[in-house]
Amino acid sequence: TGDQTLKGKRILVTAGPTKEALDPIRFFSNQSSGKMGYAIAAAAQRAGADVTLVTGAQLGDIKGVTTVHVTSAREMYDEVIRRYNGLDAVIKAAAVADYRPENVSASKIKKSDGPMMVKMVRNPDILKELGRQKVKQVLVGFAAETDDLEENALKKLESKHLDLLIANHASDSFGNDTNKVTFYFANGRKQVLERMPKPQIAEEILDALSGLFEMSDSK
Ligand code: C5P
Repeated sequence: TGDQTLKGKRILVTAGPTKEALDPIRFFSNQSSGKMGYAIAAAAQRAGADVTLVTGAQLGDIKGVTTVHVTSAREMYDEVIRRYNGLDAVIKAAAVADYRPENVSASKIKKSDGPMMVKMVRNPDILKELGRQKVKQVLVGFAAETDDLEENALKKLESKHLDLLIANHASDSFGNDTNKVTFYFANGRKQVLERMPKPQIAEEILDALSGLFEMSDSK
């Protein structure tokens, strides 16, 4: 979209994994590469939007995009929530860790011969909180599942008050340059996309977002 279809829109995109520290050396994380979120941020910037990218991945900064680097889910939470008021849309492509170690050791944990127990506690669900605080922001979420994709997608769409949920099969999306996704809209519409490169999926997402803006602007 070289045309300025998103001109004037303030859009925040999250990308990549979060890392949850165990000690100064070790962390828990996941397979997210950040490629999808970065592709969305770049495409939104090209379409004229004012874009902020909050990311746990370290891909090259995108010209014209305000990039905020975060590590943990709680940092991502803080950086997203404090910007939420001024935004027109949030696209949550990040793979946020659901759990973190309850205690972070100040020094390196030494090994012993027996097994080791790590107690994990829940992280805040950023997107759920955005759904709760929603005024008129358009909210787009992702669901990466290995099982029961559609059922879980529809559940998330509703429980997080999303306008659009993008579902993909976790086994063939993480780290890849292509993906196969399905769009589920809050109005019940479903759109199955072909497998395509992530930058092209980003364009499809922004087309869908433009449509959602048109719907909410005419309300
Ligand atoms: O983890 P889950 O499958 O529920 O994630 C679905 C969506 O919720 C994703 O868009 C993800 O970025 C978001 N999420 C979040 N905060 C969390 C967990 C997930 O914003 N703690």
